[in-house]
Amino acid sequence: MPSSSPTAYLTGRVALVTGGTSGIGAATVRELIGHGARVMIAGIEDEAGAAMVTELCATHGADTARYVHADVSVLAEVETMVAAVEQAYGRLDILVNNAGVGNYGETPDLAPEQWERVLGINLNSIFYGCKFAIPLMRRQGGGAIVNIASISGMAADYGFTAYAASKGAAINYTRALALDHARDHIRVNAVCPGLIETPLTAATLAAPAVRETWSANVPLNRPGRPEEIAKLVRFLASDDASYMTGAIIPVDGGLTAWTGQPNMPKVLGLV
Ligand SMILES: NC(=O)c1ccc[n+]([C@@H]2O[C@H](COP(=O)([O-])OP(=O)(O)OC[C@H]3O[C@@H](n4cnc5c(N)ncnc54)[C@H](O)[C@@H]3O)[C@@H](O)[C@H]2O)c1
Repeated sequence: MPSSSPTAYLTGRVALVTGGTSGIGAATVRELIGHGARVMIAGIEDEAGAAMVTELCATHGADTARYVHADVSVLAEVETMVAAVEQAYGRLDILVNNAGVGNYGETPDLAPEQWERVLGINLNSIFYGCKFAIPLMRRQGGGAIVNIASISGMAADYGFTAYAASKGAAINYTRALALDHARDHIRVNAVCPGLIETPLTAATLAAPAVRETWSANVPLNRPGRPEEIAKLVRFLASDDASYMTGAIIPVDGGLTAWTGQPNMPKVLGLV
């Protein structure tokens, strides 16, 4: 088993990170490799994937990272993706189901194709990934799965119909997976980011008014950084989280700690 030294406690572990070429996924790839794991980066941004592999192998050693093209909403591509990890590294200890897309639209205006696309990338992908990874982890005697859900799956947001549905389902699916596979020594947890500065949210946050209004609602008064999600993923993927499974953890600057009611002492002029 890997040592618990802070810099190398994932040594010997092999991870697969979907959507690993951007934002939270890329930060997770770097965090896991920084702690000794070897990582298969999966995604659809092939040039970015190749560039990351070159850079990470130059910095951390030959073969510490590889890239596989996989559209995670397509069952056959996910099967090939998991097979590629086994072929390359001979094992799979950590699966991070991170790939995802956002989408606005109220129900009457939402095309069925939009709904299916969001559910396909954000939810079906987790089923597909787990379907092929769990038998491999079982054969090895265990593993850790981390699903990147969202606070929009813990409660709902305006105009986020399909996204909220996909992330809410991802959360309860995480619990179901955790129950079914605890006896296989496979732990399954979900991380629920709040608003994090990544390419997904760049356009939203580019408007100063949005950034200000949004930050004002967050107790820590700012958006998060991808690295702040990646550190929790790394912890959940490691033996330090050995008694955690089925947990749904917000990383949101305190946003979901708030009911949404106004600051009454402030409104009443008491403070
Ligand atoms: N950024 C936020 O504020 C935020 C908040 C809550 C949850 N999340 C979740 O975090 C995860 C990562 O988001 P991010 O902010 O880093 O976004 P991002 O756009 O920077 O990264 C998403 C990644 O998923 C990949 N991807 C998209 N469709 C794919 C497909 N069909 N197959 C394979 N890969 C695909 C993209 O190429 C990209 O690499 C998503 O699941 C997202 O829903 C993000």
